[in-house]
Amino acid sequence: MDYLDLNQGALAPVTDECICNNLSVEGEIPRDLNGMLVRNGPNPFSGKFSGQGVLSWWPEAAMLHAIKFADGNVLEYRNKWVRTRKWADFFDARQTPLLLDTNPNVNVISQGNTLLALAEGGPPVVVDAALETSGQWTAQTEFTRGMTAHPKIDPVTKELITFHAHWSEPFLRYGVIDAKGVEIVNMEIDIPAPAMMHDMAVTETYSILLDLGVGYDFSLLKKGYRIPVCWQDSRVSRLGIVPRHGGEVSWLEIKPCFIQHVVNAYDAEAEVIVLDAVRYPWYFKIDPQTREFTPDPLGELWRYTINLQQRTVHEEQLIESNIELPRINELHTGRYNRYSYAVEQPTAAEMRGIIRYDALTTTIQRHSVDAGDNNSEPIFVPDRNGTAEDDGWLLLSVYRQATDSNEIRILDARNISGKALATISLGRRIPAGFHGAWIAMGEETGRGR
Ligand SMILES: [Fe+2]
Repeated sequence: MDYLDLNQGALAPVTDECICNNLSVEGEIPRDLNGMLVRNGPNPFSGKFSGQGVLSWWPEAAMLHAIKFADGNVLEYRNKWVRTRKWADFFDARQTPLLLDTNPNVNVISQGNTLLALAEGGPPVVVDAALETSGQWTAQTEFTRGMTAHPKIDPVTKELITFHAHWSEPFLRYGVIDAKGVEIVNMEIDIPAPAMMHDMAVTETYSILLDLGVGYDFSLLKKGYRIPVCWQDSRVSRLGIVPRHGGEVSWLEIKPCFIQHVVNAYDAEAEVIVLDAVRYPWYFKIDPQTREFTPDPLGELWRYTINLQQRTVHEEQLIESNIELPRINELHTGRYNRYSYAVEQPTAAEMRGIIRYDALTTTIQRHSVDAGDNNSEPIFVPDRNGTAEDDGWLLLSVYRQATDSNEIRILDARNISGKALATISLGRRIPAGFHGAWIAMGEETGRGR
C-alpha cells in the first residue's frame, strides 16, 4: 500500500490559495465549453504531507480547484480549501467555522443548482461557484449525517440516489432525494456485517449496492494496523438490487471481488440489468505469513449481466487493460452507454493515459501521456449542439514532470488519440486528488438548501 511519495511529483500539495488569470493556451478552446471544471482532493494546510503512503494522503484537508471557461476562452484558475473546523483551527481560530468536523475531500457533484463537496465519512458540504464554503447541506434528509461520495444523479428526473454504509448499525441505508432536495426514499437495509462500500450504480428502475469482500475489523487497530478494514475470505460478495423507490432487495452472489468504482448500469431488457465496473479480485488483503497488507492488484473492466428473474449473474472481463476512475457521458447515467472512458494504470504507481472503450465494436482508443507524467480521470462534457453519445469533450488534468506543474487538456471525445484540441498551462500544480466534475454555466448557484 505504501508506494506513494506524497511530497514530490503529481501528488505534492500546494501551499496557498490563488486566483490565476492570463493562462497560456495552446490550440483552440471549443466555444461551447461554458462552465467550470472542479476537482477535489487532499492537501494539508501546512503544504506538506506528514507521512508517506496512502493512509497519510487520503485523510488530508479538502482543497477544491476550478478552471472556468466561456466563449472559447479560459477565464481563470482558482483553488480553495473547504472551510472546515480544522481549517479555522489552523488558519484563524477567531473565525466561526461554518462546518462541523468534516472533511469532504473526495468528490464534487451538482444537483438542483447546488454544488456539493463530498466524502463518505461526513455530511455533504455546499460550496458556491467561487469555491466559497456556504455550509452544510440542509436538504431534508437523513443523509446529511453522512453518505457515499458517489451518489448518482438521474439525468432526467434529477433525483439523487445514494447510500450510507457505516461500521455501526444500521450498516446500510439507501435513499432517494428529489430535485428539490426532499427525501422521498429512506430505508435501512439489513446486511450481515459492515462492508466497505465506495460506489453504487443505478438503472432507470433499480439501484445496485455492492456488498463485497472488504469488511470492517476493529481488532486490526489493536494489532497496530492503521485502518480497520481488510479483505475477508469469509465474506460472500453480493450485488443488492433494490427498486429505485424502495422495495425488496434481491441479493445475488458473485465471485469474490472488490469494486471501487462502477462505470454505469442500465436495464438491458425486462428484468435484465447490465453493470460495468472496475473489478479487483481482492483488495486490502493481509498476507497471513508477513501479516502486512499485500500490494493491491490493478483494476479490470468487467461486465455483470444480472437476470433478476433467473437470479443469475454472468460475469466477464471486457478488456485486458488495467484501469481506474471510469467516467461516461453522464446524460447516460442509468441508461445504455456505448462509450466508457477511464484512466490507464500501466503500473501500480502510475495513473497515466486514457482509454475510450466502445462496447459496440469492443475496440479501444488511447490518449497517451508521457512517462513520468500523471493524469486525472477524464471528465466528459457533452456538446449541447451534438446528438451522439460521444459528441463532447474530455477534460483531463495532467501533471507534467518537466515543469512540475499541471495542464488541462481538452480532447475531442470522439477521437481521443488525436492531439488535444487545446492545452491550458496552469503554471502550478493541481495535486492529483480523487474526483471532479463539470459544472455547466448556470448550474452552480451555490445556494444551500
Ligand atoms: Fe471514488
